[in-house]
Amino acid sequence: MRILGIETSCDETGIAVYDDEQGLLSHELYSQVKLHADYGGVVPELASRDHVRKIIPLIEKALVDANTTPRDIDGVAFTQGPGLIGALLVGSSVGRSLAYAWQVPAVGVHHMEGHLLAPMLEENAPEFPFIALLVSGGHSMLVKVEGIGKYEVLGESVDDAAGEAFDKTAKLLGLDYPGGPLLAKLAEKGEPGHYKFPRPMTDKPGLDFSFSGLKTFAANTIRAADDSQATKANIAYAFQEAVVDTLIIKCKRALKQTGMNRLVIAGGVSANHMLRDKMKSLMSELNGEVFYPGLAYCTDNGAMIAYAGMQRLKAGEILDLSSQAKPRWPLDTLTAV
Ligand code: KG4
Ligand code: ZN
Repeated sequence: MRILGIETSCDETGIAVYDDEQGLLSHELYSQVKLHADYGGVVPELASRDHVRKIIPLIEKALVDANTTPRDIDGVAFTQGPGLIGALLVGSSVGRSLAYAWQVPAVGVHHMEGHLLAPMLEENAPEFPFIALLVSGGHSMLVKVEGIGKYEVLGESVDDAAGEAFDKTAKLLGLDYPGGPLLAKLAEKGEPGHYKFPRPMTDKPGLDFSFSGLKTFAANTIRAADDSQATKANIAYAFQEAVVDTLIIKCKRALKQTGMNRLVIAGGVSANHMLRDKMKSLMSELNGEVFYPGLAYCTDNGAMIAYAGMQRLKAGEILDLSSQAKPRWPLDTLTAV
């Protein structure tokens, strides 16, 4: 089975062709980062328009790079939600139209299920069941995963997502949008021990997160500090360490509570090196295993959508013609396959 995957939920147009025997055949990505940078965040209307401009050329390129013609495609998977409605409508209109024209089934994929299954694209893929820490720009959640579509959300952010906290703190440090990766780079030049940020909601039981307080703490710290690069790097280090430690404490708790020893970390923030390194140490300490997507598949991409869509198509899922793009879509309402 060979699937075309389409991701357009936010500011990245991601297209991929995935084959269940040969694996990932092609993967194209166009990031709109430069378009939105002047505004300090994603402008939904500009995002939709740019998806319209880029989607067809990227699909053509993905088919050529995969050495595939539309005749070889057995289904089209697109991100149906959650995300920006205008952006989602571009991918769903194009995906459904192509499926109709090519006379193959279409399937709508949940963006976070895409992230959650992204480590399955790797050679060393995790087996079910596992705990998944999903940390992106829009979501932070801990999920108990028993199989595809069998998701129990154990905890989530009550305010900002982890990536959002990175981006907002980066902005306070004078870094460009999206600041998460830039803050992580700045933190590499920082030293431990200069600043101590809180580890929010770790002193109470439970698996929910809260990151908006860290951003306020960062704002106050920056206001009281000098303007040197060294100081900024030390603040970036302390902020990153606080987010990572908080995520580690909650993962440890979720593993203990469920008695599981496999952990999957996915979503944009899973590209963070400090998070990856510290999670690896934690899991070797707990005699468990940790799984990540390759760096290119941590942030938004079409490959994860093609993979997740293939699992659902194989299970016989067919998109209901009345089914619409879903800007909001709770992960635990998905059907099990
Ligand atoms: O999954 P993703 O591409 O988009 C959403 O679904 O939201 O995640 C993007 C988020 C952004 O907030 C970005 O700053 C963050 O992931 N991010 C990082 C790193 N790389 C991306 N945050 C911290 N460290 C990184 N290396
Ligand atoms: Zn995402």
